[in-house]
Amino acid sequence: MQTLIVNIKELIQIREKGIHMVSGSEMATLPMLKNAFLLLEDDVIVDFGEMKNCPTLSEAKIIDATGKVVLPTWCDSHTHLVYAGNRVQEFVDRINGLSYEEIAIRGGGILNSAQKLNATSEEEIYEQSKVRLEEVMKLGTGAIEIKSGYGLTVEGELKMLRAIKKLAENYPIKIKATFLGAHAFPKEYKENHSCYIDLIINEMLPKIAKENLADYIDAFLETGYFSVQETERIMEAGKKYSLQAKIHVNQFTAINGIAACVKHNALSVDHLEIVTDEDIEVLKNTQTMPVALPSCSYFISIPYTPARKMMEAGLPLALATDYNPGTTPSGNMNFVVATACIKMKMTPEEAINAATINGAYAMGISDTHGSITKGKKANIIITKPIHSFYQLPYEFGSNLIEEVFIEGYKI
Ligand code: NIG
Ligand code: FE
Repeated sequence: MQTLIVNIKELIQIREKGIHMVSGSEMATLPMLKNAFLLLEDDVIVDFGEMKNCPTLSEAKIIDATGKVVLPTWCDSHTHLVYAGNRVQEFVDRINGLSYEEIAIRGGGILNSAQKLNATSEEEIYEQSKVRLEEVMKLGTGAIEIKSGYGLTVEGELKMLRAIKKLAENYPIKIKATFLGAHAFPKEYKENHSCYIDLIINEMLPKIAKENLADYIDAFLETGYFSVQETERIMEAGKKYSLQAKIHVNQFTAINGIAACVKHNALSVDHLEIVTDEDIEVLKNTQTMPVALPSCSYFISIPYTPARKMMEAGLPLALATDYNPGTTPSGNMNFVVATACIKMKMTPEEAINAATINGAYAMGISDTHGSITKGKKANIIITKPIHSFYQLPYEFGSNLIEEVFIEGYKI
């Protein structure tokens, strides 16, 4: 079926084939057409251009986008959207003065979510998670990465990854699954880290690979969590099953983790609230995408990723939500884009590049997602009538989205 969108006020993020990410000063440019048309056929973008060249198609469904902006759907490359229950009590504890680290030391945090997850059935986890997935699709997310990491047991991790697989089977949105068994050390392994890493490598990974449940491997490389050496063991093991690394690193401390991730050819390094000059140096001229998660900084009051400094050094940057019950109970990519503009001083052009094409790169799908490109997936957002795309981050608390299409399906 053909869908022809006409009279588009601004058609944003139009790209030639073959552009997989944008870096440094290129991020300031967001290619667009004014008074444009866009033609979708089934699940693919087949044509776009200025209205004066708009084809006449008697069979096509016509959508009049007068006054409206059209852009590619968001690519959210870092989430923990599959989880059980919530951590609202920790939210209140933090308001009353405890820090995220203090809560974790008391056995809250990731271990709290792991306890809830292991006490919940796969069906129930799926039911809770699908509500969140449906919500973010309506908010314009058209591709998403989802991590395990709240199981921390063989059965718990498998349960999470199976729920992710089921979501991928039942919804049109592209889902990439990441195995995050190395999210925290369960209490019983607190004094015996290598034993838990053995469990990940010898028990979890082979089962996950056998059922083909993961695309990537992750670890929480951080003081008090997984050391550089421990994370290197995890990345090495992942390679044996062709699972490229996407690593949580530099959230609270800089301990030369980024260099280790680059050495192991990680697809992305995520969080980066604390970044040193050496970290920036090692990321230059590599294939590793830095990913910032500003709604995590917002929610737990930690520094924001130094985006300007990184882009000025020529690096690319992607933006993602980090949707999870502890540090970011929100999957709203428009809020992420707005917060990047407001708090990280990214321009709207830079933030939208970071949340679309660079987000697609950070989950290995930039040949099919992340821009308005002939041959890419028919993944688009149509806004309400607005004055320009700047209104999206400017009205940070409004939902200016009117319609979302994911792989040709109207959501
Ligand atoms: O990305 N930092 C590690 N993992 C998650 C938070 C996990 C949690 O608190 O549940 C994050 O922020
Ligand atoms: Fe995370």
